[in-house]
Amino acid sequence: MTRLLEVTNLEQRFDLNTDFLSKLVFEKGRIVKRERIVKAVNGVSFSVGRREVFSIVGESGCGKSTVARTVVKLIEPKGGRICYDGRDLTELSRTEMLPFRKRMQMIFQDPYASLNPRQRVVDILVEPMLFHGITRSSEEAREKALEILNRVGIRPEQASRYPHQFSGGQRQRIGIARALAVEPEFIVADEPVSALDVSIQAQILNLLMDLKEEFSFSYLFIAHDLSVVKHISDNLAVMYLGRMVEKGSKAHIFGNPLHPYTLALFSAIPRISGTKMRTGRNLEGEIPSAIDLPPGCCFHARCPKALPVCREVVPEEREIEPGHFVSCHLFV
Ligand SMILES: Nc1ncnc2c1ncn2[C@@H]1O[C@H](COP(=O)(O)OP(=O)(O)OP(=O)(O)O)[C@@H](O)[C@H]1O
Ligand SMILES: [Mg+2]
Repeated sequence: MTRLLEVTNLEQRFDLNTDFLSKLVFEKGRIVKRERIVKAVNGVSFSVGRREVFSIVGESGCGKSTVARTVVKLIEPKGGRICYDGRDLTELSRTEMLPFRKRMQMIFQDPYASLNPRQRVVDILVEPMLFHGITRSSEEAREKALEILNRVGIRPEQASRYPHQFSGGQRQRIGIARALAVEPEFIVADEPVSALDVSIQAQILNLLMDLKEEFSFSYLFIAHDLSVVKHISDNLAVMYLGRMVEKGSKAHIFGNPLHPYTLALFSAIPRISGTKMRTGRNLEGEIPSAIDLPPGCCFHARCPKALPVCREVVPEEREIEPGHFVSCHLFV
């Protein structure tokens, strides 16, 4: 059976100088044309099975949100294929995409910016329901919206309030309710808990996992911290500078992490050992710019184990054990 989502060699670029004049720069007494292109996603492949939670983890700026937005075609991919339930989404027109817009829903990192401040909470749900023809009348949509809001913990008497009248955690519940409203089967959750207090994070994660059981959802789950996705993921990928450097099952990544970057992410998680809390060693240096990608392995400048070859040759992805993939010259 094919996997629900199969992404192959996905590429995404952003041209920072969209008009011709801004591409011209004065260099050594001459005017030359210079492109400034952010290579945000560089040949990413992964798949998500039905009822599976696939997580993508990596530092800020590594391209996680860009992968998430491209997969649901909020931005057109610049290369590669996105197959959803056997259909190649990259070939579909806007109209042909509409049924998939209903089936694939997104939950955003910032629960406030992603809700229309001028809409009452109940209308935030009713509008997409009517657009996708989920209910026949607006009364029916209203009734269903109240049920869904209740399911995520927003009481019916709160439904006519505006987003600013809710706390961060409650707003994220509204964002989840909006996704649920159109009866999706695949949810892309882009750092849905990182803007929330730690105590609220667990509540929202539990809600997302309960809903997964109840509605048999599949999730593409984005996080910058391995500890957030430890309990919820079936499979994971670790991303660095637009590439997936390690992929595997939860057991592979948590039981046998191999890529030096994955190890660095683990050492950045604070651990409780004995009675003392130890803060892990953070990665040194900064993530390089995605405009001038370094040659060779994208991680070589910060890698404690870098070999001369790492500066020159991009490592190929290797399957180290069944289902466990690593892109690193140390594992050839
Ligand atoms: N619309 C855009 N125009 C130009 N550059 C962009 C755009 N969106 C993202 N980028 C750039 O693409 C790269 C990847 O960004 P992205 O938002 O996908 O990272 P991220 O891993 O989601 O980071 P964070 O953890 O901070 O959310 C960054 O260098 C970012 O500056
Ligand atoms: Mg992001």
